[in-house]
Amino acid sequence: MHHPDIGRRLVDALMDRYYDFLLDVVFLGRYGLFLRRAVKLMEFRPGDWVLDMGSGTGRIALLVLEQVGLKGGIIGVDASPAMVAQFRRKCDRFPNTSVLLARIDRPLPYRGEFDKVLFSFVLHELPREPRDRALDNASLALKENGELLVLDYNTFSNGVPWGIKLFFRLIEPPHILDFVKQDLKEALSRKGFGDFMEYHLVRGYVRLLKARKVWSS
Ligand SMILES: C[S@@+](CC[C@H](N)C(=O)[O-])C[C@H]1O[C@@H](n2cnc3c(N)ncnc32)[C@H](O)[C@@H]1O
Repeated sequence: MHHPDIGRRLVDALMDRYYDFLLDVVFLGRYGLFLRRAVKLMEFRPGDWVLDMGSGTGRIALLVLEQVGLKGGIIGVDASPAMVAQFRRKCDRFPNTSVLLARIDRPLPYRGEFDKVLFSFVLHELPREPRDRALDNASLALKENGELLVLDYNTFSNGVPWGIKLFFRLIEPPHILDFVKQDLKEALSRKGFGDFMEYHLVRGYVRLLKARKVWSS
C-alpha cells in the first residue's frame, strides 16, 4: 500500500495499523476463514521452511506454523515498520519464526534455503519492475524444486468489470490494473518455473497459483 499523495499516505498508515481489523469488517468476519482455506490449499508439510514476502501482520504466519511444526518455520519480510511490529507481537513466542524489515524488491540475503516462498496479496502492490525483482528474489531463495505460492487477485485477461475497477480505484494502487492483466504464468515460465497449479477462490476473483522452480535462471 504505497500511494504518492498525502491523503493516500494517511490511508496507507491507517491500513497498516488496523489491517486485520479492517479486513474482518469488510469481509463481515469471514476473512479468517478465507485465509485458513487458502493456507490449507497451499499444502505445507511438516518440516517446511517458508519465506513469507510482504508478510503483513503475521496472521498467515500463525496458520502456516500450525502446519510446518517445530521442525519447519517461517521467515517474514515486510517494508512497513507497523506491520513488522504486529508480526513480532503475534509470532515472537515461536522460536522458528522471525521477520525482517526490508523491501522484497531489493536484494535479500536468502539463497536456496526455502521449501516454499509465499506472496499473499503483495505482488499487486508493486509496479512491473519491482514485481519482477521480487520474483527473482523468490527464485534465489527457493531450493531446487521448491514451490512458489502466489495468493492474489486473479487475472482479468478479458478486461476488468467496472465494479471491480471501482473497488480497485478506491483501495488499491494504480498499477493493480497492470498486475491483473499480466500473464503471471508466462512471466514465471521465463524465470524457470513450471508445474503450475491454480485454485480459484472468492467467485474466481482470487487465485492461488502454485509454481515449481524447475530450473535456475
Ligand atoms: C495487502 S498486505 C498483505 C499482507 C499479508 N501478506 C497478508 O496477506 O495478510 C501487503 C503487505 O506487503 C507489504 N509490502 C508492500 N510492498 C512491499 C515491498 N516492496 N517490500 C516489502 N513489503 C512490501 C506491505 O507493507 C503489507 O504488509
